Amino acid sequence: MPDITELIRLAGQARDRAYAPYSGHPVGAALVTDAGAVFTGCNVENAAYPLGTCAEQSAISAMVLGGGRTIRELVVVGPTDAPCPPCGACRQRIREFAGPDARIHICNEREPLLTFTPDELLPASFGPENLNPRKA
Ligand code: THU
Repeated sequence: MPDITELIRLAGQARDRAYAPYSGHPVGAALVTDAGAVFTGCNVENAAYPLGTCAEQSAISAMVLGGGRTIRELVVVGPTDAPCPPCGACRQRIREFAGPDARIHICNEREPLLTFTPDELLPASFGPENLNPRKA
């Protein structure tokens, strides 16, 4: 199971592969699942601006493709020492797959700056169990 320092390193590596020519704001994400598998992602922008995708989104897609389902720790590293918290859409994406004890760490290249539980990140959220209560 990788520790936070290793996840920060991997998120930084992913950040360095981001495609962010329009915002100049490269972001990397690294997550570990409850099974100990690690997945990373970076933001990928587009000349048609709204089509850009976030680092968290790409790490979650990689997780699902790799057979993972439950996030235990997620690290986000932005381009500077200032915190780069997930956007609203990514908070909802994280909420879909965050385990009960998940932690989301907003980091610089060295250490966590902010750490959230899923509920702190997106309080009173809508999730799978709200969609069809009979199936939950
Ligand atoms: N971005 C992310 O990838 N993750 C975040 O947590 C916040 C923002 C990206 C989206 C866009 O490509 C750029 O950063 C500027 O918003």
